Amino acid sequence: MGQKTMQIADTVEGLRAARAGLKGRVGLVPTMGALHAGHLSLVEQARADCDAVMVSIFINPAQFGPNEDLNRYPRDLPGDLAALEKAGVDVVFTPTPDLMYPPGYQTWVDVTDVARGLEGERRPGHFRGVATVVAKLFNLFQPQAAYFGQKDAQQAAVLKRLVCDLNFPLEMVICPTLREADGLAMSSRNAYLNPEQRRAAGVLYRALSAAGEFYAAGQRDPNRLRATMLDVLRAEPLAEPEYVSAADARSLRELDEPSDEPVLISMAVRIGTTRLIDNLLLPLTLNNRADLTAVLGG
Ligand code: PAJ
Repeated sequence: MGQKTMQIADTVEGLRAARAGLKGRVGLVPTMGALHAGHLSLVEQARADCDAVMVSIFINPAQFGPNEDLNRYPRDLPGDLAALEKAGVDVVFTPTPDLMYPPGYQTWVDVTDVARGLEGERRPGHFRGVATVVAKLFNLFQPQAAYFGQKDAQQAAVLKRLVCDLNFPLEMVICPTLREADGLAMSSRNAYLNPEQRRAAGVLYRALSAAGEFYAAGQRDPNRLRATMLDVLRAEPLAEPEYVSAADARSLRELDEPSDEPVLISMAVRIGTTRLIDNLLLPLTLNNRADLTAVLGG
């Protein structure tokens, strides 16, 4: 049996027509392109769970701050489309910024508490941009399920809240972080790193793992967990920690007392001009799809 060809839509009408042709349970994987194995693991999970899989590729200007990397964000549309076709995706949507935010656009989605700390604190407006574009994608695609990565744990938590609060009739699935051999979380932004920086970037996972092992040995003091991560990061001269966090995994509130509830340890680290983020859920046994989906963001 021949594989059916992948449909590529770059208009709202084209997308709606392609969507109307899909039957059964439809899964959506939103992305900003420059796809790597982490993105493709979400597609694979969607393929396993659903009758059809749709992917969006859109570098969303609304989620980038004025001094962030919007203009140099990596792009590889031909490579992305080839990878998605090979992965058996049914529909790809590649809108322009003007299609998503035409002149006169003025509607925004603001998720409050869970979006305030961590990345939300350092990237003002970021989650407003993410929540708005994802709400639009949910309305456009009408998926039964949507797939997001643990790599952006706060994003996943914010979007779970969005789906619950705005009654989107879909199931959220949060998939574990795919890593390189040295533990570095796969990210489109890793392409910014030169070889020396790439070697240094392994320190994020070493710092998270050290705190994870400390936790496994019984350490529950969030100050000690944060200090452990900082100690490991400080041993790498090319790494400039922006923050380290030990937060309640459901509320994402920073912990100041020991807790027996699941903890999200996370960090943002600058290596040269590249800003990298990573996280682990504690206990370490929770870093799987079912537990991540149940716990992150409550
Ligand atoms: P992007 O950074 O392209 O990521 C798309 C999806 O892939 C996100 O859900 C992200 O968490 C997931 N992902 C990234 N790296 C991963 C890895 N190493 N392992 C597993 N999953 C990984 O996140 C965005 O785009 C945007 O904010 C978006 C949700 C598309 C809204 O614009």
